[in-house]
Amino acid sequence: MEKSLEQIQYQALEELEKASDVESIRALTTRYLGRKGELTKLLREISGLLPDERASFGKKANAAKRILDHAVNEALTRVQSAAAPTGEWIDVSLPGRHSGVGVLHPITQITQQICDIFQKMGFDIAEGPEVESDYYNFEALNIPKNHPARDMQDTFYVSENVVLRTHTSPVQIRTMERQSPPVRIIAPGKVFRCDSDLTHTPMFHQVEGLLVDENISFGDLKGMLTAFVHQMFDEGTSLRFRPSFFPFTEPSAEVDILCVICRGKGCRVCSQTGWLEVLGSGMVHPALFEKVGYDSERYTGFAFGMGVERIAMLKYGIDDIRKFFENDARFLMRF
Ligand code: PHE
Repeated sequence: MEKSLEQIQYQALEELEKASDVESIRALTTRYLGRKGELTKLLREISGLLPDERASFGKKANAAKRILDHAVNEALTRVQSAAAPTGEWIDVSLPGRHSGVGVLHPITQITQQICDIFQKMGFDIAEGPEVESDYYNFEALNIPKNHPARDMQDTFYVSENVVLRTHTSPVQIRTMERQSPPVRIIAPGKVFRCDSDLTHTPMFHQVEGLLVDENISFGDLKGMLTAFVHQMFDEGTSLRFRPSFFPFTEPSAEVDILCVICRGKGCRVCSQTGWLEVLGSGMVHPALFEKVGYDSERYTGFAFGMGVERIAMLKYGIDDIRKFFENDARFLMRF
């Protein structure tokens, strides 16, 4: 008799474990634990036992009942949780959920385009820190303390001798300190100036260029920057070199392109001049060569620096620089 109790318990547990839906579990419950169930029937037979067998059998039978009750609940939880995902009703005719594919930020795209053009001309990419020493940002670039040129750039000071770099030109010095000529690098990166309006943000991006070798002339500068402008804008873009001043180049020139909006007639964007400034440039000042230990009798070179946001604004006709930093996907997805 006890053997069949164990058999029943074993068999019931095995079947419950295999049961894969609610109906079969219910059927098993009825079969073993129902009013006419096998375990119930066995419990009824208890009266036919000798008094001292009753107690121990009763204990075992009740334990078996508890175990089976528990197993039934477990089996139900198991099939119900397994059924949840697949049991959902699926409308196969619904259109798929669209996961939007992003685009590179327009500033990243323009930076890459600028770098591509110069890399094809043999320039390597160089980098420098955004938190820069006064020495690299100013001093080594021929801008001593109290030089009026420091007023050209509204500097964020971290401490007396540490600044957020106001331009990428310090990378010129860092590169020349590291290697001897010939040098042919471009340096893209973030720069910072305490300035904010329609065309200025406290953080913006520049790409610096530096080429140093023997026999480099202003003609090389003009040729390369003309080729750059023609590839960046379009082949027919008119440009002009306008005399300018930077402490680290001599002579210096700013490059203007014919206004992309009015084609030279004069409008609000070009302040009625017909021209738009795109970059600063010039022949490397011999004072920089002295600082980094290059022979300024033997080597000459040119450097240039351009604002990436400015190029992007001109190329796409955007009138407010802040649009680049508002993270409005409707704006960013246009590029
Ligand atoms: N550093 C200058 C600026 O930020 C640009 C420049 C770079 C000019 C290199 C000449 C040569 O305005």
